[in-house]
Amino acid sequence: MFELIYRSKADDNLKSSDILDILNISKQWNSTHNITGCLLYYNHEFLQILEGDDIAVKDLFSQIEKDRRHSNISRISENEKSNRTFKNWSMAYHELKKSEIHDMNRQHFIDSFLTISQLAEKPTHVVKLFWFLSQKILKG
Ligand SMILES: Cc1cc2nc3c(=O)[nH]c(=O)nc-3n(C[C@H](O)[C@H](O)[C@H](O)COP(=O)(O)O)c2cc1C
Repeated sequence: MFELIYRSKADDNLKSSDILDILNISKQWNSTHNITGCLLYYNHEFLQILEGDDIAVKDLFSQIEKDRRHSNISRISENEKSNRTFKNWSMAYHELKKSEIHDMNRQHFIDSFLTISQLAEKPTHVVKLFWFLSQKILKG
């Protein structure tokens, strides 16, 4: 089992339909290739953790790196591990814009996500870093 985190800047012209496309392909591809993880999108930034078979994760990441819908891709950390951490979902996706932060639902989502980030199991330094960076991104 291999895990990897990267962050990137969303393309300036990214539309919500692009996000839906990414989400649809990810759900399909990741579930058939036993890849799990979490994708956070906030304030034009992406943060993603991917986990699964070594080759599957590396191959997927090289596809993602070529994707023109984002840039400034920086691979933050990676690690071999024995157990999957994100067992319950193939890809969690959240779109949050700073201008909408006053919206109750979005604020509620941020609060919930921050709570999850505090309570989540953090068995490896990579997972710990993922939740730490999620908090940093959400707190601006
Ligand atoms: C931020 C971001 C995250 C992505 N995450 C995934 C993912 O987890 N799984 C996936 O199959 N594609 C993901 N993609 C889409 C891939 O980059 C790519 O479109 C997909 O592998 C299909 O390749 P193709 O467009 O050459 O057919 C992501 C794209 C972006 C911009």
